[in-house]
Amino acid sequence: MQFTNEELKIKIDELKEKLDVTVVAHFYQRDEVFEVGDITGDSLELAMKTKADDAEFVLFCGVGFMGQSVKVLSPHKRVVMPKVACCAMAKMIDGLMFDNAVKALNEAGIENENILPITYINSDVVVKAKVGAMGGLVCTSSNAKTIITTALKEGKKILFVPDRCLGQNIANQMGLKSCVIGDGSDLSESDIICFDGFCSVHQLFTLDDIKFYRKKFPGILIATHPECDPAICDASDFVGSTSQLINYIADLDEDQKVAVGTEFNMVNRLRTKNTYVLSSTKPECPTMNETTLEDVYVTLKAIEDGEPINEIFIDEDTQKWAKIALERMLAL
Ligand code: 13P
Ligand code: SF4
Repeated sequence: MQFTNEELKIKIDELKEKLDVTVVAHFYQRDEVFEVGDITGDSLELAMKTKADDAEFVLFCGVGFMGQSVKVLSPHKRVVMPKVACCAMAKMIDGLMFDNAVKALNEAGIENENILPITYINSDVVVKAKVGAMGGLVCTSSNAKTIITTALKEGKKILFVPDRCLGQNIANQMGLKSCVIGDGSDLSESDIICFDGFCSVHQLFTLDDIKFYRKKFPGILIATHPECDPAICDASDFVGSTSQLINYIADLDEDQKVAVGTEFNMVNRLRTKNTYVLSSTKPECPTMNETTLEDVYVTLKAIEDGEPINEIFIDEDTQKWAKIALERMLAL
């Protein structure tokens, strides 16, 4: 039998009352899913707030690496996901590709003891574990600059995976030299050496979009996420993570126009008559959009029936090293 969203919301609320479960939803989720979240936020906020929550079950509406991060930080919790959707960027690097990236640095004369790996939180738990085991740590787009500033104090080369855009944008902001493995540069000359991964959603924003809005509305501000190409971020008035963008827009005068370059669901929720989506396309994240309200209901029902579905399990060794990498980030 098919239920309407209103009926599903009522059923979800009833199950939430009855079960020891916290529903967690990322800002990029569909509106109706976001609305049933007990904890909402960007990836860093979700990792921290969920760690502090004490329900037995976490029902995580987001992409796979986010659910994994909750499990790693709180192994005693049972983490289930309505859809184990995999972020396209996180899929671009696995353990073997990470090892090959390290080899590329070795071939450029940079020994392992002079490499400090940093992985963006948008990566599989296996990659986080490899980074942790090499003495490295995790970052998110909210704290990447702080993490890199601290890491550089060790005087090592930073291997940044998987997002070449975030790595290069932070390097540009800090006046550091960066390159992408395979771009033909001498890796040993860069401070930050990036893996060649990217977010397909954030590549949708173009310089033509910026030109279009600046011409149409003189005085408009352009605000973008650091997963956008460095050329886009350089041409923006503000670059920030999901929460930083939300705060930036909230602080603008009511009449100030702003065009925002990040995921559609989030920008749409912020939309006022002066907030625009910086694209002629609809920049939705396909994997974030996979989770429906019906999936949330089915997943709660499975907990009620004593047969949880899509539960996240992580082997002990991976868990141990990924936790070290994540906790090094939280400690900063
Ligand atoms: P935040 O860290 O800003 O939540 O971003 C996660 C993400 O996937 C952005 O595309
Ligand atoms: Fe991954 Fe991009 Fe979707 Fe974020 S918007 S979850 S980086 S594919």
